[in-house]
Amino acid sequence: MRVDIITLHPALIEESFKHSMMKRAQQRNLVEIHLHNLRDFGFGKHKQADDYAFGGGAGMVMMIEPIDNCIENLKKERIYDEIIYMSPDGEEFCQPMANKLSSLKNIIILCGHYKGIDERVREYLVTKEISIGNYVLTGGELAAAVVIDAIVRLIPGVLNDAQSALSDSFQDNLISPPVYTKPFEYKGWTVPEILLSGHQAKIEAWKMEQSIERTKHRRPNLLKD
Ligand code: ADE
Repeated sequence: MRVDIITLHPALIEESFKHSMMKRAQQRNLVEIHLHNLRDFGFGKHKQADDYAFGGGAGMVMMIEPIDNCIENLKKERIYDEIIYMSPDGEEFCQPMANKLSSLKNIIILCGHYKGIDERVREYLVTKEISIGNYVLTGGELAAAVVIDAIVRLIPGVLNDAQSALSDSFQDNLISPPVYTKPFEYKGWTVPEILLSGHQAKIEAWKMEQSIERTKHRRPNLLKD
């Protein structure tokens, strides 16, 4: 999978791709991440990429032309499955969406500023808008990092244990059961005996029961979907 990220602030997210699972995925050539600084497509001495809003209003608006030029450059090289704009009024990100996106070959993710992008970008250039939740961030960069992390870990070969992505919380609309490790007892706090019983079938049944109970208490809305 190839992900091209278009942003005015590449430094805000580049670090998040240099560690842990994201680093391993790139080393294994399972994902390629390319950052494009929109300023490189800006105008004049100051590489201007935003301007005042027509009709007035607070804040600068990201211009369509540098964005279009950047996207056109990328499209000359390959076909993109989706051109995604990160925005609080996009479709709410969730596990099924991550599953779907993880099977794509090439995607562009455009990071913008809420209320700050020429509407024609959304109308004519973008194929999908994603929100990571009902709150407003200063820009789409951190939201893009969240989406990319959730997608990349689902690509076969990225996680060592093939089972672990499938047994994540939300994969079956249930929250994961609790997990424990050594020591068996800490400050008098013990691990549920069943987990040491060696009865695999009983352990699996216990885990399922725990998942259902947790979901009922913590996230009952998941059971209604
Ligand atoms: N940009 C600003 N806020 C955002 C959000 N909640 N989700 C996605 N992109 C955003």
